[in-house]
Amino acid sequence: MDDIEASHAQLLSELSTAIDTADNLDTLEAIRVAELGKKGRITGMMKELGKLEGDARKTAGQSLNKLKTAIAASLEDRKDAMAGAELNARLMEERVDVSLPARPQTQGFIHPVSQTIDEVVAILGEMGFSVAEGPDVEDDWHNFTALNIPPDHPARQEHDTFYLPGGNPDDPEERHVLRTHTSPVQIRTMQNQEPPIRIIVPGRTYRCDYDATHSPMFHQIEGLVVDKATHMGHLKGCLIEFCRAFFGVDDLPVRFRPSYFPFTEPSAEVDIGCTREGGGLRIGHGDDWLEILGSGMVNPKVLENCGIDSTIYQGFAFGLGIERLAMLKYGIPDLRTFYESDLRWLRHYGFSALHTPSMVGGLER
Ligand code: DAH
Repeated sequence: MDDIEASHAQLLSELSTAIDTADNLDTLEAIRVAELGKKGRITGMMKELGKLEGDARKTAGQSLNKLKTAIAASLEDRKDAMAGAELNARLMEERVDVSLPARPQTQGFIHPVSQTIDEVVAILGEMGFSVAEGPDVEDDWHNFTALNIPPDHPARQEHDTFYLPGGNPDDPEERHVLRTHTSPVQIRTMQNQEPPIRIIVPGRTYRCDYDATHSPMFHQIEGLVVDKATHMGHLKGCLIEFCRAFFGVDDLPVRFRPSYFPFTEPSAEVDIGCTREGGGLRIGHGDDWLEILGSGMVNPKVLENCGIDSTIYQGFAFGLGIERLAMLKYGIPDLRTFYESDLRWLRHYGFSALHTPSMVGGLER
């Protein structure tokens, strides 16, 4: 080994010691700048090579390059080691204490409308009904005419119904409306499905109304059964069972009061036993009555409007208001509060998110 190589080896050994004992990135960077930087010592020595001749220049150049590469490598090694050590130190410091109790969660609640729909579906689903759906934007024919609601029926009056642009302006029956009840889904189902039919239809409905018991948007559930031997006894049995299961009162008095709906004949409104003594309302006791739903035997004209032979088939139907059921069952005094999105209200009247109502597991909470 000649002098130059020996002095390079000496230099590398000194620098390696300095690098290996550097304890932070700043010191390492200072060494890099002092040796390999633009004005660094090794860079300076490279520039000096020009003064040497022939073989001496070649030997010195090769040796200097080796030195430079070795210094750079040892700087990198030290940097990696430091990063590893720093990470380890941080991991030690930031250890997660799994024994800490979890932070309190902000828990969501099921809205009473959803809960009530789930409860009704659980009860009627058990009886063999399946859920059907229809559009919120209906046409006049499905919403009114097909249901035997004549043009001068009060439900058609402008102040009740939200009429929409669209449809055929020359044909009033194609006028678009926000459905005023879920009954048009009876029509859509009977048009598309052969009897036997056994459906319930939960959904949004719309009327131009607003006070403590009316809202421009509200929810209904429709029921429809069509079969060859369906009769009034089935209607009564089904609805008595439903009322008792929904309100959780086994001997709840249920009364069928003659009424009128264009789409049923005969029609009956269903009342349940209650008392208003002492100011409040108590369901299931006393000798007063409370109306909770409308029902009847499907009018043969409605069956015929859907292409079902009314000499072979008959059916029963019913319709109930979800908010009204929820208000009665859960003691909610004002319908408008359902849509105010007040979290305090929801926390008070809402239901556990992980409980799905079922006839086996129980309907509430
Ligand atoms: N569609 C009626 C309403 O909105 C409710 C209703 C009554 C539906 C009797 C029915 C029924 O299917 O048979 O007031």
